[in-house]
Amino acid sequence: MNPNDIKGPYNPNQSKSQPKKRGLELGMEQLADVKRIVAVASGKGGVGKSTVAVNLAVTLARMGYKVGLADADVYGPSVPKMTGTEGAVPDVEVYDEMGYPLAPDAPITDDCKEVMIPVEKYGVKWMSIGYFARPEQALIWRGPMACNALKQMILQVKWGELDFLLLDLPPGTGDIHISLVHDIPLSGAIIVSTPQAVALADVEKGVNMFRNPQIDKPIFGIIENMSWFTPAELPENKYYIFGKDGCKVMAEKYSLDLLGQIPLVQSVCEGGDEGVPAAVEDGPVYDALKVAAGKLGALI
Ligand SMILES: Nc1ncnc2c1ncn2[C@@H]1O[C@H](COP(=O)(O)OP(=O)(O)OP(=O)(O)O)[C@@H](O)[C@H]1O
Ligand SMILES: [Mg+2]
Repeated sequence: MNPNDIKGPYNPNQSKSQPKKRGLELGMEQLADVKRIVAVASGKGGVGKSTVAVNLAVTLARMGYKVGLADADVYGPSVPKMTGTEGAVPDVEVYDEMGYPLAPDAPITDDCKEVMIPVEKYGVKWMSIGYFARPEQALIWRGPMACNALKQMILQVKWGELDFLLLDLPPGTGDIHISLVHDIPLSGAIIVSTPQAVALADVEKGVNMFRNPQIDKPIFGIIENMSWFTPAELPENKYYIFGKDGCKVMAEKYSLDLLGQIPLVQSVCEGGDEGVPAAVEDGPVYDALKVAAGKLGALI
């Protein structure tokens, strides 16, 4: 398949000789009815940021909030797989320069704006670059292109009325993050970590990034993931395989709220692989995230 045939407006392989892209002057209009934009971040990769973001979105939706989630990890989008929406192709609506829907037979000009319709499942509106690229296609983009694609995933999406728009950030504290927190009207961030010392060292970087005077966004708190291991056949047992209460100590050190502790359980991993987030059903993940979601809910 020719990489230029990829459906949707975000073809990373589009050659320079192709016609100018339309509707890329991104404004904040689509965020007008979004009450809170919350970044889910971590300094370190693989601590369960996407798992927490997806399950937190589902938990908020189950509690009656209107929720959207933008998969801002343009290098490794995991939302389509984790939500079982792989293969979905978001609709695109086209508006004329006055902001009216374009008549079906009208020509699309450079002044038209294109807006993507998020994919809805589990009561949450999902958007991900993964809907526009085939899974095997590595997204190897230079910084500015990645930043643009990321902004499109947030600003060029018809979110409608939302209580919360969660952003699942890529790991780290690099250019993408700085550009994002600079250009998107973030309400604040949640930091995800495991209790392990090496992961905690990276939390420090994440905290420092959001508290940097040039960024200066509130951190709503830390969610500790993989806090303990509980085997399915011994639900009362807790094994602290990554150490105990690491995030509690960290939260105290940085005067942050410990929003919740999520155990390492097989159902989380399986749910992620099968596209059914664990929080869709009652259980330890929903219980842990209900507390975090309640604290977020108090913000609006
Ligand atoms: N509480 C948990 N219990 C069991 N497995 C978990 C738990 N949290 C995450 N996992 C598993 O760990 C792996 C990494 O999780 P995830 O992809 O959410 O991490 P991430 O921080 O988003 O990674 P990346 O930095 O690559 O974006 C996944 O396979 C996921 O299913
Ligand atoms: Mg991730």
